[in-house]
Amino acid sequence: MSAIQPPEERVWWKEPIAPIEITWILIAFVWCLFMFIMMPYWHIFGKQNLANEAYRSTPELFTAKAQAMVDKYKVREETEQAIPVVRPPAGSDVYLVARLWQWWPLLELEEGQTYRLHLMSLDWLHGFSLQPENINIQVHPGYEHILQVQPNRAGTYSIICNEYCGINHHTMAAKLYVVKK
Ligand code: CUA
Repeated sequence: MSAIQPPEERVWWKEPIAPIEITWILIAFVWCLFMFIMMPYWHIFGKQNLANEAYRSTPELFTAKAQAMVDKYKVREETEQAIPVVRPPAGSDVYLVARLWQWWPLLELEEGQTYRLHLMSLDWLHGFSLQPENINIQVHPGYEHILQVQPNRAGTYSIICNEYCGINHHTMAAKLYVVKK
């Protein structure tokens, strides 16, 4: 029997399996198991896939929380649109609004500290991609997403929207500052 020609016997499923076929089935099976185990392994020990929580929320509620943080911890303004730069205390809850076509406000975090980063879209689907850290999550409207983040290297990071969100999708980028204590 070949893989291309039809089987010679009509009752082909009762023929013994060729050793080479058994070998391939075993290789595929072991590989499936390996990939299956890698999913939880990578979730726990990998650096890219953060466990996140999500809660239903509304743009009004979320904007109010972000605004309260900005009112309290704003340190300066940047860019032509005068976007506030916020330096919240270490260990606190920080809020980042995604909307057409902007991330608001700009965050300045301390190296080595842990924060709860809340993300929400006020309009439709955006993607939160932190470069060069390769952190990547979808930001759905209607849900407040919470990530535990611990920036461990000082520097300026880029936040890029990586879900197509309309005509100015390519301009939806911002900075995240990580500063030494
Ligand atoms: Cu927001 Cu693309």
